[in-house]
Amino acid sequence: MGRKFVVGGNWKMNGDKKQISEIINTLKTGPLSPNTEVIVGVPAIYLEHVRTNLPQSIEVAAQNCYKVPKGAFTGEISPAMIKDIGVNWVILGHSERRQIFGETDELIAEKVAHALEAGLKVIACIGETLEEREGGKTEEVVFRQTKAIAGKIKDWSNVVIAYEPVWAIGTGKTATPQQAQEVHKALRQWFCTHVNADVGNSIRIQYGGSVTGANCKELAAQPDIDGFLVGGASLKPEFVNIVNAKQ
Ligand code: G3P
Repeated sequence: MGRKFVVGGNWKMNGDKKQISEIINTLKTGPLSPNTEVIVGVPAIYLEHVRTNLPQSIEVAAQNCYKVPKGAFTGEISPAMIKDIGVNWVILGHSERRQIFGETDELIAEKVAHALEAGLKVIACIGETLEEREGGKTEEVVFRQTKAIAGKIKDWSNVVIAYEPVWAIGTGKTATPQQAQEVHKALRQWFCTHVNADVGNSIRIQYGGSVTGANCKELAAQPDIDGFLVGGASLKPEFVNIVNAKQ
């Protein structure tokens, strides 16, 4: 099944105009494999600046949005606003939105549905905590998180799933290729069983959690790993190596 490799760079709450210029220059210099779709997740305040200064060949994503087009929701941004500045992607359900800001499966599912309705493409994040993994609940958790989204949408063609084990995020403790492949394979099977085989075989599933230039190739060689969602390393020149992990 020809799933185009897709690598997201989630800058999180990092960067200033100087650092962003350096990152943009790194991405412009590359060289970036044409066989990889690249999406940089940018803090909202810099979205238009980055969109304006990056080649159109590189996609830009917001790191969050709300679930309605407009209204009395101080501090929030809407999918309509994201589209309005020429940005086509949004990252939703990141574990930091869940763990720190208390976003529930239900709210994230509603956000995904509205973002898609508004014409955005979505990187939808799921993943278990260390306690859940050590309790043998990994599949139960990621299936529950995915099922919540499946309850709100029918068309998965503009969705990328990012499996990010919480215990691997920002810790330097990367899942082994075998651990990641096991969950990706189970997720793909979940889609085949609970949505349909076409979606199951075509949906792209990124791995996220301490991906670096050193470990990306072995991870990318796994049959059900279709790309990465990269945090810390997306702010560094090694992000180019991660983009090119699968030639
Ligand atoms: O969204 C990607 C992020 O959660 C992974 O962070 O720093 O472990 O690559 P990091």
